[in-house]
Amino acid sequence: MKKNIRLVYFSKAQRDMTLDDIQSILNTARTNNADVEVCGMLCYESRWFLQVLEGDRATISELFIDIADDPRHDEVVIVSMEYVDEPKFKDWQMGYVASADYFEQAMKECGLTEFNPDMMAPKVCIDLLVRLSRAQDEAKAA
Ligand SMILES: Cc1cc2nc3c(=O)[nH]c(=O)nc-3n(C[C@H](O)[C@H](O)[C@H](O)COP(=O)(O)O)c2cc1C
Repeated sequence: MKKNIRLVYFSKAQRDMTLDDIQSILNTARTNNADVEVCGMLCYESRWFLQVLEGDRATISELFIDIADDPRHDEVVIVSMEYVDEPKFKDWQMGYVASADYFEQAMKECGLTEFNPDMMAPKVCIDLLVRLSRAQDEAKAA
């Protein structure tokens, strides 16, 4: 039985996040997610968080319950949860994308004019996160 899942959710930050706020979330995520072999991507823009987590079903469930309880955000909504054969995210990444040129590019490629995860279909959320993750990889390699 397949036990690896991909979970996508969005939420609203309690207040405008600074780069330091995001960095602090990321530092925790990087350490903890590597320990439990969870990959994914966290995107922050216009007070929205959009996050994808891939890994073992029980591990992701436990992690998501912790994340959903975090006072730094609320209005947490699950977009999709599916079983995966092939992971789309090989690493743990984060895009503080507000200032990145590739954000606008990825949005355009997904046919989006506004970043509002509440109005985006699950497939579009994943498509955008994959494009952002790829763009980050390319930026790192350059
Ligand atoms: C939007 C958002 C995304 C987060 N993503 C993760 C994550 O992917 N992994 C993680 O371990 N913690 C994440 N956190 C932090 C957790 O909510 C929680 O603070 C952390 O798991 C506690 O870890 P600690 O017990 O090692 O301090 C996130 C928090 C927020 C607000």
